[in-house]
Order: sequence, then structure tokens, then C-alpha cells
Amino acid sequence: MNHPPVLLRTLTDLRANTASWHSEGLTVGMIPTMGALHDGHLALVEEARRRVDRVVATIFVNPTQFGPKEDFTAYPRTEASDVAKLATLGVEAVFAPNAAEMYPPGHATTISLAGPALGLETDYRPHFFAGVATVVAKLLLGGFPDIAMFGEKDYQQLLVVRQMVKDLRLPTEIVALPTVREPDGLALSSRNAYLSPDERRTAPKLASVLNETAAAIRAGGDHAHHLRHGFNALESAGFRPDYLELRNAETLASPAESSGEPLRLLVAAWLGKTRLIDNIAV
Ligand code: PAF
Repeated sequence: MNHPPVLLRTLTDLRANTASWHSEGLTVGMIPTMGALHDGHLALVEEARRRVDRVVATIFVNPTQFGPKEDFTAYPRTEASDVAKLATLGVEAVFAPNAAEMYPPGHATTISLAGPALGLETDYRPHFFAGVATVVAKLLLGGFPDIAMFGEKDYQQLLVVRQMVKDLRLPTEIVALPTVREPDGLALSSRNAYLSPDERRTAPKLASVLNETAAAIRAGGDHAHHLRHGFNALESAGFRPDYLELRNAETLASPAESSGEPLRLLVAAWLGKTRLIDNIAV
């Protein structure tokens, strides 16, 4: 039976907690989350468990990464059950601050991004990565973990965070894990809970179209043709795609045809009122 995690509400307590672990010579891993934990998050916790001595998960629905018309208010908040799940995995601490702790009155600093933050999500959610980068920087500076875990499901976010950590020389290694999927291929996401039973039946088509398009690109021929075909297939299945794009897997720059560079295929599409994202290596 594991001890329940210690619940930390302030950045001062987060700092004191990890500092005391570090002073004992223990290594620390952080899993930043917005809660509503699913098996994808739990895989990150388990991997951190294997790599470090102490694990702290953070739960904070970060207002600055939501646009005015987005789902900030509706976003699922399930702290008690999240903490119970983290307890079963032996997580030692949970940092769950409120908005005033992270953004006290007068808070005026936001991280400004370029590089991998350009295009894709930013074209549709211009506020998103500044909010993510700012809160992740505050969390990493709050705890100075040795490693922090991120899922490849949010691939652009992963590269944005990696670039930020490199540019700001933050002393944390960013560890990425592959997307965890349902048996039918749907990428796990807290937003899958918004899908109606009908939409849930359609949703795995997002991953099938990604796989089919990636296979066609690998087989050769004109990228733009394959991407158009994939986009049309999504529309025929009932999605309203924002984008289906092929990018350099390391920089997210647009690739040259037949350049041999590592490629990533990324998609965002609406199914009813739910926006789903996914990506795969090509
Ligand atoms: O991926 C998420 O859940 C969030 O964007 C993150 C990294 C916890 C920042 O709020």
C-alpha cells in the first residue's frame, strides 16, 4: 500500500519539497498535466517512476492556454480521482495550485516563441503555446526537476517545450513517450470525454487516415496529392479538419520533397464540438 501523495498548493512548497529531495541526493521527475488523467498520463508517471527516485505530478488547468471561445470552463476537473490514481502509482507529491498562485494580480510576463511554435496549432490557437510555455517554465522553475515527461500526442507542444528548455538553459531533461491509443487506434486524450457515442465510433478514423496517408507518402509520389487525399477522406468521414500537414520531425519546418529528412504527419480536426489532434512518424 502506497502512501498518499503530499498535496502541494504553492510554488514555495513545491520548491521546498523538491529542494529537500535534492538535498538528500535523490533525483526528481515531474509530470505536468491539466488533470483528467488517462492511461497516457499514467504511462508518463510509470516511466518517470523507473527513471528517478521521486515523482511529482502537477495538476493545473492553465487558463492562459485557452482562447476566449475555447473549453476552459468545460474542461474536466477531477482532482480527487486524479490524486487517487497517482497514489496507486506511488507518486510522492502532487502540485495542484489555483490560478491566483500561478498568475497573481499584476503577473505580466509571457514567453514569446518562434521556431517549432510557428504554424500548425498556432494558426488556429494563436494564444496556445505562449500559455503552455509560460506555465511549463513556471512549473520547471518551481520544482527544478531532473526530468519532465511529455507525451508525443501533443507533438508540437513537445518540440516547443524542448526548444524553450534549450534556449533558457533550464536544467531539466525533457523525456517524451509515444502516444497511448485505444485498441481501435484513437489517441487517448482528456477531450475524448466530450465525444457522443456516434462521434466516438467515427473518431478512430482520424488515426486510420493518418496511417493511410503516411503509408502513401512512404510509398512515394507527390506529398501535396497524398495530403489532399487524406484531407478529403477526413471530410468524407464527418470531420472538419483544421490541418493535415507533413513537417520535419525535429524542427517542424516544411520539408522539401524527397529530401530524406525525418518526417512527421500532424492533424487537427473537429468532430462535432470536439477538436482532436494526432500525429505519427512517417
Ligand atoms: O499537455 C498538457 O496537459 C498541458 O498543455 C500542459 C503541458 C500541462 C501545460 O498546461
